[in-house]
Amino acid sequence: MAYYRINGGRPLEGQVTISGAKNAALAIIPAAILAGQPCIIENLPIIEDVHVLTDILRLMGATVDLHENGWMRIDPTTIDNFEVTFDMVSKLRASYYLLGAMLGRYGHAALALPGGCSIGPRPIDFHIKGMRALGAKVSIKNGVVYADAEELRGADIYLDMVSVGATINIMLAACRAEGVTVITNAAKEPHVVDVANFLNMIGASIKGAGTDTIRIRGVKELHGCNYAIIPDQIEAGTFMIAAAATGGNVVINNIIPTHLEAISAKLMECGVMVTEGDDGSEFYMQVQASERLRAVNIKTLPYPGFPTDLQQPMMALLCSAKGNSYVMENIFEDRFNHVPELVRMGASITVTGRTALIEGVESLSGAAVHATDLRAGAALIVAALAADGVSTVHNIHFIDRGYEHFEQKLRSLGADIERVEE
Ligand code: EPZ
Repeated sequence: MAYYRINGGRPLEGQVTISGAKNAALAIIPAAILAGQPCIIENLPIIEDVHVLTDILRLMGATVDLHENGWMRIDPTTIDNFEVTFDMVSKLRASYYLLGAMLGRYGHAALALPGGCSIGPRPIDFHIKGMRALGAKVSIKNGVVYADAEELRGADIYLDMVSVGATINIMLAACRAEGVTVITNAAKEPHVVDVANFLNMIGASIKGAGTDTIRIRGVKELHGCNYAIIPDQIEAGTFMIAAAATGGNVVINNIIPTHLEAISAKLMECGVMVTEGDDGSEFYMQVQASERLRAVNIKTLPYPGFPTDLQQPMMALLCSAKGNSYVMENIFEDRFNHVPELVRMGASITVTGRTALIEGVESLSGAAVHATDLRAGAALIVAALAADGVSTVHNIHFIDRGYEHFEQKLRSLGADIERVEE
């Protein structure tokens, strides 16, 4: 096991380039199964989750070449195993996209039910409701979802709750269904749009991605393509928060400004200077903070609201803001496991149900803390970078799942951070 040793209190300064979007990659790689021909996917983040998904596809028989520069060639024509075991799913919850991709391509799928995780039970009932609406026979036996369909037929599907995963999974299965599928109350996240763009590149007919109504007209044949995925909105937001929390001055390159409007607005409300620009080839965001930040209130919402994946890093920043903030987590049932760790660093936080009240303190102090999930780990790193003294952040395998070259990028911004192998 490894941990980070961070000597805090140093402003982050300099430039950082954002990697490809994890949550786009984890959907687009399985989506290539639908193509029925080899696809090239570029700008993939080289993170643990992408390695795990690559291994799962290879276990299924796909031919996958993944290069350290984020280039992947995936040939799905050699797939000969259609069962995604619990061992695979337990390593990567997002394996559930294989359900929609395999059902859409082969008319059959068997997927072990994903367990909950440290942010809530995270069922996939909306996904199953969508597959059934498309005409699949879905049964659950011994914790495995079996889905079969002679022929998938387009349907009108209303999602009771906005769900990124269900929206994407239904899109995958509907691509080759007979007729038109309409998803109402669809998720609008940037990575939903990125998946729709990839699917259209392989010959699908999808309109309305990015709105709450997506129309998919089924087509019989799909083909290979070359596709580069979007920059990671959450990684960019994490660096914006870290720059602000340390009173730094950071230029963040390779971003899409519209994806960051909620986080930019909240940071400006705290008193942070956020400016965007482009150097002729790509957009950048500059984040500067000198004064002590002001307390603000946060409510997580589906896109374009404040993203739940930035709730935890943002709370770390608010711990030493001037005044009281409250954070309302409206997406997941249990996304405050980072709170006790922040309290160990001197934060003053009270949690009642889905709301946390943060009373700003002058500054946090370094401590030994443990990550409980990916974004909780990011929050503890933000807190340690801002805190006085030395912290050790443990369970950083969570962080390796979703942030590419994280410590290298932070060190290039002047952070005193080192990875220690226990
Ligand atoms: C995706 O998870 C992301 N994961 C999450 O990012 C992100 O937090 C979440 O979307 C919200 O933006 C990936 O893309 C791999 P949901 P997902 O379906 O699809 C409930 C990270 O750190 N729900 O939008 O699982 C669910 O429990 C991760 O990168 C059902 O009840 O999220 C949650 O309360 C964490 N039944 C709410 O809906 C279902 O069938 C929203 O979940 C599906 C979801």
